[in-house]
Amino acid sequence: MSERLRVHVDPEKCQGHARCKALAPELFELDEYGNAHEAGDGTVPPGLEDKAWLAKANCPEIAIDVTEE
Ligand code: F3S
Repeated sequence: MSERLRVHVDPEKCQGHARCKALAPELFELDEYGNAHEAGDGTVPPGLEDKAWLAKANCPEIAIDVTEE
């Protein structure tokens, strides 16, 4: 059984690099300043787990948390 993941962007750390949005457009949204926040409540739909980890690994500001529930 696979765990359910949730993504969260720390708005204090995000500097708008937008790699998260490029790598996992289903999981992140950008505001008018180009800063990211998680789509919806951050729950990662089945099949997108790899994208969640990829986005976390590629954020230069280490602003993305992925938690397992
Ligand atoms: Fe922000 Fe990192 Fe995405 S800086 S826009 S959370 S790649």
